[in-house]
Amino acid sequence: MRLELRGITKRFGSLVANDQIDLVIEPGQIHALLGENGAGKTTLMNVLYGLLHPDEGEIQIDGHPASFRSPGDAIRAGIGMVHQHFMLVPVFTVAENVTLGVERTRGLGLLDRRRARRDVRELSERYGLNVDPDAYVEYLPVGTQQRVEIVKALLREASVLILDEPTSVLTPGEIEDLFRVIRELKAGGRSIVFISHKLKEVQAIADTVTVIRRGRVVGERPPTATDAELATLMVGRPVELRVSKGPARPAETVLDVRGLTATDDHGQAALDDVSFQVKAGEILGVAGVQGNGQTELCEALIGIRPVAAGSVLLDGKDLTHAPPRDRLRAGIGYVPEDRQEDGLVPDFSVAENLVLDVYDRPPFASGVALNLDAIGANAKSRVDEYDVRTTSTQRPVGTLSGGNQQKVILAREMSRDVRLLLASQPTRGLDVGSVEFVHRRIVEQRDRGVAVLIVSSELDEIYALADRIAVMYEGKIVAFRPPSVPVGELGLLMAGAAVETEGGAGGDSAAGARSADSTAGREGRGSRDSAKDGDSGAASAGQSDPSEPTAGPS
Ligand SMILES: Nc1ncnc2c1ncn2[C@@H]1O[C@H](COP(=O)(O)OP(=O)(O)O)[C@@H](O)[C@H]1O
Ligand SMILES: [Mg+2]
Repeated sequence: MRLELRGITKRFGSLVANDQIDLVIEPGQIHALLGENGAGKTTLMNVLYGLLHPDEGEIQIDGHPASFRSPGDAIRAGIGMVHQHFMLVPVFTVAENVTLGVERTRGLGLLDRRRARRDVRELSERYGLNVDPDAYVEYLPVGTQQRVEIVKALLREASVLILDEPTSVLTPGEIEDLFRVIRELKAGGRSIVFISHKLKEVQAIADTVTVIRRGRVVGERPPTATDAELATLMVGRPVELRVSKGPARPAETVLDVRGLTATDDHGQAALDDVSFQVKAGEILGVAGVQGNGQTELCEALIGIRPVAAGSVLLDGKDLTHAPPRDRLRAGIGYVPEDRQEDGLVPDFSVAENLVLDVYDRPPFASGVALNLDAIGANAKSRVDEYDVRTTSTQRPVGTLSGGNQQKVILAREMSRDVRLLLASQPTRGLDVGSVEFVHRRIVEQRDRGVAVLIVSSELDEIYALADRIAVMYEGKIVAFRPPSVPVGELGLLMAGAAVETEGGAGGDSAAGARSADSTAGREGRGSRDSAKDGDSGAASAGQSDPSEPTAGPS
């Protein structure tokens, strides 16, 4: 099936999310859509899938105009889509999930559960999907859930399969698995639309790459196009993709965390006896698949999550039970994962947000009076320096785009005189150009003697910044590794496939001993089949954030 989009325009109010987009998906091709967050990729695919109706333009299938009023129409025409956020029912089995809503779709009118189980098993074998029809979805790893979504689309006889940022939730090993499946599907004659903002991924998997910027197609390239060329197209100007940094010169211990234990919002163990140290002048990068305790770790360190056991010392001072304000004052710069909730006051102006934690101190205040001139001047220079795009520093910060809000937080937290910079997903939502700027700033902080703790689910970010890497899995730090660790090994550790920490109190020293004996990690139990694929670095990379909240179709 040959699919053609012609002159697709989709507006949301005054915003033109898709502007006269032409795109041809040839049969049996892997076609990548590459673009920054907010470029309009998901919107375009939602139009193709019948979830959104274009304001202008037309869809053609094998030369005939097609009109999709709903996903049902698109599915009947042979188009399948796996969304960024899966649409499975957790308490149902795989077979139950794939039969949901099936009555209304093509070719499956007679499908019953028994047949579904058989078909799932058959598809699973044919494409090496490793999906058990009787497994309950809620107990499946994310990578498997994704393959259930793929099975669901295949059962509906999709000839074109759209995968919207499918790798954003996967470990490197799972990404390799997915790529293998995608290649199998292609070999079976299907076309795949592969959406990503990661250069290395599209280079690794695509036959053709279409780059979208600000709602427009800005180029089509073969996968052999260089990083620099693709990045330039994506961002609209040349960018440096990797900051240069010298070796770290770690000095005294600034942050000392011992035996930290805490529960999540549901009372389940989220942090389990976590111990580590961060020294002045080094960057410790915490790697891990999201949801393995990183969020709770940051919250516990900044004081918004109570700890059940353990201690947090900053320059030897016990802050374990101190409120957040005291921690900020003690010299912690904090870039939270959720900027809306913890980082900014949306109704306050950009200028006010830039002095949130210091507004009651000189030079911004004397006594009870605020010094508005100083606040304004500060805002002006920060906004310039960090390239925050806003019409005015008086604008409520909540009206800025996500990337610009993030820059406001970074500008504030990196301009203060801090001992420890704690940054969670620091470049989430930023374009590759801004990522480079922020990374350079973080390295500058390190070289000025700040202790830096970066939490990121973006392995490229970890590799770009970290002087030491800690891997979190199921609430524990399961390993420390040098930045020279191969991505395959890191992937295994992130998937929980390696030796676990025994005994907590030893913290850094115990783990240090283990990482010196590097065989320990490589002998991982290999409980997952991702193990065999883990060594390829092809799929690891990304320039910015994998999991920005997607603007849904609703
Ligand atoms: N339902 C919607 N209502 C209003 N604006 C939207 C909606 N969906 C997307 N947008 C906006 O359209 C632009 C393109 O978004 P999207 O297609 O999700 O980008 P991408 O998938 O490339 O990250 C963004 O500026 C986004 O905020
Ligand atoms: Mg998207």
